[in-house]
Amino acid sequence: MRAVVQDRYGPPELLRITELPEPEPGPGQVQLRVAATSINLSDWENLVGSPAYARIGGLRRPRRPVLGSDIAGRVTAVGPGVTDFAVGDEVYGDNLFLKGGFAEYAVAPVTALALRPDGLSAVDAATIPQSGAIALQGTASVTEGDRVLVNGAGGGSGTFAVQLAKRAGAHVTGVDNGTKLDFMSSLGCDEVIDYRSDDFTRGRPPYDLILDMVTGRSVFAYRRALARGGRYGCTGGPARALLRVATLGGVVGLATGRRIGMLVIKEGPEHFEPLARLCVAGEVATRVDSVVPLDEAPAALARVGAGRALGKVVVVPG
Ligand SMILES: NC(=O)c1ccc[n+]([C@@H]2O[C@H](COP(=O)([O-])OP(=O)(O)OC[C@H]3O[C@@H](n4cnc5c(N)ncnc54)[C@H](OP(=O)(O)O)[C@@H]3O)[C@@H](O)[C@H]2O)c1
Repeated sequence: MRAVVQDRYGPPELLRITELPEPEPGPGQVQLRVAATSINLSDWENLVGSPAYARIGGLRRPRRPVLGSDIAGRVTAVGPGVTDFAVGDEVYGDNLFLKGGFAEYAVAPVTALALRPDGLSAVDAATIPQSGAIALQGTASVTEGDRVLVNGAGGGSGTFAVQLAKRAGAHVTGVDNGTKLDFMSSLGCDEVIDYRSDDFTRGRPPYDLILDMVTGRSVFAYRRALARGGRYGCTGGPARALLRVATLGGVVGLATGRRIGMLVIKEGPEHFEPLARLCVAGEVATRVDSVVPLDEAPAALARVGAGRALGKVVVVPG
């Protein structure tokens, strides 16, 4: 089978497209003919080996030679003990542990997968699992009238988080780079901020919830931007900033009547299927920037890494 292989950490130019043996499903796993795999920031982080958490399990060399975790496809073989799925089932999920979606075939544990609902294409389904789980858990506490700020609102998780917060009746502010301001408004943001020219932690009424995909500022800046009783949760960013939030954030939050901490995202179908149902019902929209063949996966990763994508970039191995 054809696959996009990563031999070491570095830029997308290091990726090569080559023939590999089809992976065989082990106990509790299925083999999929990959129909679509969306690119997440986590793919980029695993490609370049930064932040530091991207090297967990593979300090010097990537643990998995083929990236791609948000995957949709048809089951082509089942491993020992698998009863949940059968050959021919159309499934999707976040194969975060094994990855392998940038290839014609991949294997995934059944625990990561769900049946793809009728009315959801493979391309749309592949955009949902990882970003959807982050967005659902990140906005779970939002209630009518809350002031919500999504930092990184123009990205994969932010796209869903903005729509979910609006659906819950919040006033939503989106922060991202200046090229994504119209895109964030089209998602429903009431206010948009360019992070390159404006600091959202200053000069605005405080927020009840800040959901942060990038975590670049100090704990004290986050505290300043939060209303009393408000909550700050971050999902990704530089390891040092995450560590600060996980340690100092808790103390500063507690001392000032706010909650500041990391969001550890629970994985698995029960954490993304509710969003897929909303998408099928037309209440939340998937946003696809582009759909590319396997040969163009390295260029597509570069596009995502450079922050040029408006919505998800999806690789279709063909
Ligand atoms: N906590 C967990 O358990 C867990 C689980 C899975 C994934 N994650 C992590 O969660 C994060 C999710 O991100 P995602 O998939 O939504 O990423 P994404 O699609 O790349 O979106 C991030 C957005 O943030 C923007 N951005 C960059 N720097 C910014 C800044 N200083 N201020 C505001 N916006 C900025 C980016 O734009 P530009 O770069 O173009 O400017 C991009 O539009 C990733 O880091 C992933 O590794 C966490």
